[in-house]
Amino acid sequence: MLLDIQNLTKRFGGLTAVSNVSFGIERGEIIGIFGPNGSGKTTTLSLIAGILKPTAGAILWKGSDINALTPFEVAQQGLVKTFQNPQLFSELTVAQHMQIACHLHVKRALGAKRLQTLFGGMPAELDRTLTRKIDQMLELCRLANQRNDEAGALSYGGEKMLGVAMGMVCDPELLLLDEPASGLGHDEITNLDAVLRDLKSHGVTLCIIDHKVGFLGRLADRSIALHHGAVIATGKTEDVLANEAVVAAYLGKKHA
Ligand SMILES: Nc1ncnc2c1ncn2[C@@H]1O[C@H](COP(=O)(O)OP(=O)(O)OP(=O)(O)O)[C@@H](O)[C@H]1O
Ligand SMILES: [Mg+2]
Repeated sequence: MLLDIQNLTKRFGGLTAVSNVSFGIERGEIIGIFGPNGSGKTTTLSLIAGILKPTAGAILWKGSDINALTPFEVAQQGLVKTFQNPQLFSELTVAQHMQIACHLHVKRALGAKRLQTLFGGMPAELDRTLTRKIDQMLELCRLANQRNDEAGALSYGGEKMLGVAMGMVCDPELLLLDEPASGLGHDEITNLDAVLRDLKSHGVTLCIIDHKVGFLGRLADRSIALHHGAVIATGKTEDVLANEAVVAAYLGKKHA
């Protein structure tokens, strides 16, 4: 098992945002996470990515407990999360955002000497390698034509895709995506769907939160549904989406 979540719990004061959640992810799968607003989806992914620390429970990555690692160390292990709302620098270009996201590679290649790169001292070979990597990811994420555009000029769909490209340039084995389709139009969702399938064919395991049943329903091999922080259904996505408790959580018992 690539990722094994055991009895994960997160309390914020008196509020239990994630309650005793357990599930596993195998290599090569696309896992969907469904659940109404406030059901603990983002908190669960933030716990896995080391952005939040659990109140209780274990997160095993390839069999090792990663609870104590910083988000940076978790990303370095191959577990990368994108954000529900991409926080971009509007005056930096798409390529410059990608260069920032290459920090892990620069750190790995240069160690403490990476500080020199602040003053334009990037070794030529590393620079070429990173440029190649960036171009590859922009191509994969259909952003190559916007390479030199400022982030402020991107559509919301473009911003979200840049978030995915920035995550991908870190070479994740498992990419955690927080609502990549929210706020996107029909064509942008079709594009995102194709990009995510491409990522899977490149060997990346994906765990995706979304509310869009049509989008994630088609994409996810297996799903987990959360309600009030707890798992209420797991299994094949179509079965989870048809589950009575899941329908009731979204629509209320009366309408379900
Ligand atoms: N840092 C925090 N401090 C206090 N409460 C929080 C914090 N983060 C999340 N919560 C609460 O935890 C619960 C779960 O929030 P979370 O963001 O994980 O939900 P979600 O399923 O991602 O919702 P959405 O679909 O709206 O993004 C909510 O009640 C939320 O208000
Ligand atoms: Mg959320």
